[in-house]
Amino acid sequence: MPAGAPVIGVFDSGVGGLTVLAALRRRLPAARLLYAADSAYAPYGERDRDYVLERSRRLASFLLGQGAQMLVVACNTATALAIAELRGGWPDVPFVGIEPAIKPALAARRAGDGPVGVLATPGTLASDKFRSLLARQRGGDEVLLQPCPGLAEAIETHGPQGAEPLALLRRFCVALQRAGCTRVVLGCTHYPLLAGAIREALAPREVELLDPADAVAAQALRLAQDLPARGDAGLQAWSNGDPRLLQRVAQACGLALHEVLPLPEPAAQSPSRTRAVAAQPGLR
Ligand code: DGL
Repeated sequence: MPAGAPVIGVFDSGVGGLTVLAALRRRLPAARLLYAADSAYAPYGERDRDYVLERSRRLASFLLGQGAQMLVVACNTATALAIAELRGGWPDVPFVGIEPAIKPALAARRAGDGPVGVLATPGTLASDKFRSLLARQRGGDEVLLQPCPGLAEAIETHGPQGAEPLALLRRFCVALQRAGCTRVVLGCTHYPLLAGAIREALAPREVELLDPADAVAAQALRLAQDLPARGDAGLQAWSNGDPRLLQRVAQACGLALHEVLPLPEPAAQSPSRTRAVAAQPGLR
């Protein structure tokens, strides 16, 4: 990476995208990283496509206004429901999205392995993008889908160590435990924050957790080679939620967030906050 560095905008519905931001920091130590946490509008995972698209457009537009030359959608739900439209709306901007690591999880399967478990938001699992990803994989019938309604919201409200998210998580792990899953795909960027608790919930079986954050960062690094260097290394974050939670979670991810600025809301009418995607417990 040349001296001076590209400016990379990153967004998520809240603190979850910090797990991707940390991977970006490791792969692109000299880049200028801009992070927007849309916590006041989280969760995305139980909202309809229009809601997620509207929020994603606003965040993309905000980060581009701050000088971002490339955007990383650090949210599986927003990638599934909105990245195609974002690319269409800003054809000159490189976008990198994130999707559940089903392919490597299935590729790693060996005789005797249990099924692959997937923990993700209801919105991601119900999306056409995810359905077609799954349909393209050989052995896709060996995948157990577990929607986790309320989990990202509980992390946003109580923090990743809160009793509520941990209790919810244990419930969502029951089916995976019973099915004997040996690999679990973390299909929401909030869930790596609960990696230790997921392992505990699936003990004594040792499971491999698949988090695609580093693959996303590697792709961002490839695309960044083509960008003119504009910024100075550094990290700036904005949030419309609790800045202390963002700082705490950032620290747990190995990032130092000295300052979190209030994320300004554009004047346009807010999208509907109705929950349009019904929770689908037990969806398989
Ligand atoms: N972190 C997000 C994801 O990867 C969204 C969680 C939510 O807001 O529901 O899907």
